[in-house]
Amino acid sequence: MLENYRKAHFPKTVFPEFRVDPDKCTHCGRCVESCPTMELVMGEDELPRLQGYKGIEKACLACRNCEVVCPADACSMEGTYRVLEGRYRTLLPEGVMPPRPFGPGDQTPFKELAERLTPVERVILTRRSVRLFQDKPVPKEMIWRVLEAGRFAPSAGNCQPWKFVVITDRNTIREIEAESMKVLRRFRDVYMGGKRWNKSLSTLLSYLYVNKMDQRPMTAIEKADQFDNVIYWNAPVVIFLLVDNRGISNPDLDGGICAQNMVLAAHSMGLGTCYIGLTIAALDYLPALRKKLGIVPPWRALTSLCLGYPKGKIDKPVERNTVPVEWIE
Ligand SMILES: Cc1cc2nc3c(=O)[nH]c(=O)nc-3n(C[C@H](O)[C@H](O)[C@H](O)COP(=O)(O)O)c2cc1C
Ligand code: SF4
Ligand code: SF4
Repeated sequence: MLENYRKAHFPKTVFPEFRVDPDKCTHCGRCVESCPTMELVMGEDELPRLQGYKGIEKACLACRNCEVVCPADACSMEGTYRVLEGRYRTLLPEGVMPPRPFGPGDQTPFKELAERLTPVERVILTRRSVRLFQDKPVPKEMIWRVLEAGRFAPSAGNCQPWKFVVITDRNTIREIEAESMKVLRRFRDVYMGGKRWNKSLSTLLSYLYVNKMDQRPMTAIEKADQFDNVIYWNAPVVIFLLVDNRGISNPDLDGGICAQNMVLAAHSMGLGTCYIGLTIAALDYLPALRKKLGIVPPWRALTSLCLGYPKGKIDKPVERNTVPVEWIE
């Protein structure tokens, strides 16, 4: 048991392997720009390479966004992210596969497969988080359509325990980012510091707040710190989804369904989104900012989304971990 807690800090982890074809790579840098963590950098040879970050051998989430944004099909990821020990040990079985909606045995390439899918399935399977946005405002009617997709989500007891805060004012977005970074840097410094007390405190915090001390967000915080506090990826729109704490049953689940309705609707309309949880973690410690954004009880910020027109094509299926399925027939 004690051993388990001890391994919460920098646990032994297996990361995916990144491959780049130097003959295909155009050195455009999109993969580096779009990577949510500190992981990818341009090498001196102008080819992207993995770099790791302090105690994390490779700071890669295995999201495969690098593959998706690459216009030249030049890079790919092999394998996935697996924590081998301790509190955050990966429970999913080893192995990844692309979408196999007709069963794991059907290995038809996605292009052919797509013709047999419904438009909704295609939207679900090709949606990716977008972190490269055009510098172009989103018309209010389009934002409204996205919100409407959220409003018609199912909820326990039809409580509809949600509210949206839509921000298109760049200065406000920058203020949220800057204020959040003040808090997030503290989280990162506790986790990443090399002293013995950093390890002890991280271990204790991972026990008290299991969702807050994972090594992955630390590398995303570092990226924002190195790139002018940019957390919302320079998107023109930010939407906060608030939930009413009094919603019956599980308002967080209702809110999650509502958010994903918006994300899928946006993708179907040619818009890109990315969930942003980093600022939500920080808001707990920023009462003045919460007040400014109208996040007052019984409302609580559940998640936030950035929204805008993607820069280039960002909609492709990727490989994902296989999932255990128990059939009781
Ligand atoms: C609740 C939630 C919070 C997230 N927070 C962030 C974030 O703060 N920054 C970010 O760049 N991506 C964030 N993401 C996006 C995930 O990194 C992404 O969904 C995941 O890597 C899978 O990639 P995909 O969305 O392209 O399929 C978040 C996703 C979810 C669902
Ligand atoms: S898989 Fe995701 S986290 Fe890893 S290098 Fe590619 S973009 Fe970055
Ligand atoms: S996105 Fe593709 S082409 Fe551009 S730098 Fe990365 S690997 Fe090279």
